Amino acid sequence: MLKKRITKLLIGTNNKGKFKEITNLLPKNIKVFSTSQFKLKSPREYGKSFEENSLIKSKFFSKKAKMLCLADDSGLEIDLLNKQPGIYSARWAGSKLDFNIAIHKVYNELKKKDKNWQKKKIKARFICALSICYYNKKIICVRGSINGKISRIPKGKNGFGYDPIFIPEKHKKTFAEMKPSYKYKLDHRSKAFKKIKKFL
Ligand code: IMP
Repeated sequence: MLKKRITKLLIGTNNKGKFKEITNLLPKNIKVFSTSQFKLKSPREYGKSFEENSLIKSKFFSKKAKMLCLADDSGLEIDLLNKQPGIYSARWAGSKLDFNIAIHKVYNELKKKDKNWQKKKIKARFICALSICYYNKKIICVRGSINGKISRIPKGKNGFGYDPIFIPEKHKKTFAEMKPSYKYKLDHRSKAFKKIKKFL
């Protein structure tokens, strides 16, 4: 556990969208650093869970930059697909991270499982594991999640990734139809952040 408040922090991601979202969630008194400032490439994510992959990233980047590092790993679990794409969420989008491909694959896999899937409630959830490490030492690792269902068709233009096909519980719109500021308040990443706030 940290005895002192954090004053500087490396954000362990090469994804510019994620960097922005994470920076916005951090208290303004923390000086943030990006992996590009240290010209760091991302490590291979060989973990078997969101937590393991998050820790692989925060340890790797911390050791390279010699600085406390926060990293996340996130993805979409779909119950009918035995929790796939899960930790493979980014990989379903191919090397060019084309999420039209990933969404097409989700619908194809659902059809293979049940040709009447569109008439049913397809339960799903977004998960985010956030971790902070200093070199190989884990300071904290937490999980945030949001339950919901898969939309029959992709809807909305906001957000990224699987946002057009995910309808959070107690809502009628997909994440991509919501204002980003509204989505951030309820999503998996902000829930995980709430759990680490006391360390920041
Ligand atoms: P990561 O960079 O390995 O954590 O990959 C996470 C992947 O999960 C992203 O590339 C997205 O495909 C998906 N994902 C995670 N969070 C969200 C979200 O809030 N909306 C849409 N897709 C998400």
